[in-house]
Amino acid sequence: MRALYCSLLFAAAAFAADLTGNWVVSQDMHDGTFRNTYLTLKQDGADIHGSIRATQFFYKISASTGGPEGFTVTGSMMDGKSERRVTYEGKLVGDELHVGTRRRADAPLTEMVAHRTADGEGAMPARIEPPKLHNVPDNGLVRKPPMGWNSWNKFAGRVTAEDVKSMADAMASNGMKAAGYQFINIDDTWEAGRDAKGNITTNKKFPDMKALADYVHSKGLKLGIYSSPGPNTCAGYEGSYGHEEQDARTYAAWGIDYLKYDWCGARNLYTDDEMQAVYQKMGDALRAAGRPIVYSLCQYGRQDVWKWGPAVGGNLWRTTGDIRDTWDSMSRIGFEQSDLYSYAKPGHWNDPDMLEIGNGGMNETEYRTHMSLWSILAAPLLAGNDLRSVPPAILEILTNHDVIAIDQDKDGVQGHRASKNGDQEVWIRPLSGDAVAVAIFNRSAADAKATVKWADLGFQGKFKVRDIWEHRDVPVSGPQYEVTVPPHGVVLLRAAH
Ligand code: GLA
Repeated sequence: MRALYCSLLFAAAAFAADLTGNWVVSQDMHDGTFRNTYLTLKQDGADIHGSIRATQFFYKISASTGGPEGFTVTGSMMDGKSERRVTYEGKLVGDELHVGTRRRADAPLTEMVAHRTADGEGAMPARIEPPKLHNVPDNGLVRKPPMGWNSWNKFAGRVTAEDVKSMADAMASNGMKAAGYQFINIDDTWEAGRDAKGNITTNKKFPDMKALADYVHSKGLKLGIYSSPGPNTCAGYEGSYGHEEQDARTYAAWGIDYLKYDWCGARNLYTDDEMQAVYQKMGDALRAAGRPIVYSLCQYGRQDVWKWGPAVGGNLWRTTGDIRDTWDSMSRIGFEQSDLYSYAKPGHWNDPDMLEIGNGGMNETEYRTHMSLWSILAAPLLAGNDLRSVPPAILEILTNHDVIAIDQDKDGVQGHRASKNGDQEVWIRPLSGDAVAVAIFNRSAADAKATVKWADLGFQGKFKVRDIWEHRDVPVSGPQYEVTVPPHGVVLLRAAH
């Protein structure tokens, strides 16, 4: 009796002050979904073991200090070839776990309250072996780089069906559709979960995806959507893991024309070496679904994707991490792309990420550089600004027909850097009909004087040169052209016989 009493007392004390359990922080996303963070903890004497699952990441706890009255746990995971870490600090307060984490070491603590939940809830699903490699046949789409709009850069997680409709209205009427823009692409955060049959469902922001696709189609435009090969998208929403064929069929039934497929949560289940097979799975699924759907790979340019993107049925593949609306981000990404030029061809494009033109973080000169560089790169032109309120100067940049003609040139040969002299770079892109696009960039913060020798570009005898942004012909009587390029600016020329 005495022994039983003692052990009951001990169990009660241990329970009251023990971190062991499956803890969940449930954040209301105000779209009918909750973003759950799971801390699955096992207190083992002075150590805390277990795992942390947050949005797209799944960490094993690798170090800990303290106990119920104050603890720190560090989680670690492999992401491709690099290690990611996260630290949570917290304490037990009654039957709640008060925890906090920091985005960066010097950032303020984000504080959260976790509650106990059922064991196994939020567990990582079992790994599904990736398929054997084979070649997915070309779907014949986007013989020219896709042009359109994507919700992420401006709206991130706030995008709604109403926003998407009004973007379609704007694109159809503001000159962008006439200039060649066609896709209206919904990025992350449209997803809810799965119904009893495992079908993907939309959240409250997107009450009827089929009706939305019909609406966009009625404007003569196409609708794109987003998912991940992982169990979770980057924002922590439902991914296509284990449901690839079913999701592809759902997209086809809704009338979707474009899929951006983002690695995100797949990093917890697969190595980078397995990426090709994992992307091939959706390539096959889209093909089997029987509707022409552009396939856009988003895995941040890892694993030399440009070498295998076409083999998995990919029409375009991101070559870099995420762009931001700053000169540093845009120029670092854009000017880094030269070596990849030989991998672009009609139907298969390098994607240095979406446009930031008009989002306010750069000036008009810099946005002209952004548009020019992307066109030299034969890059997809996916506007990322709010199309309902585009200032005329920004609309002029996005709809400059001569720049778009360079981007959309039918030969689909990507341009590259021809020369570099400090902050001055000359890039050329061969165009159909023996023409050439020449971009003289000034990456410095001061005016730069530049000289282009026509003979260096292969032009002699009778030829014509047009300044694309100035909308005028350039005199070609002399052997060379001298021009002043503004800070962070470009002079974009088209030379033709
Ligand atoms: C990743 C992608 C972005 C965007 C977000 C959405 O970061 O690279 O382009 O799709 O995910 O969560």
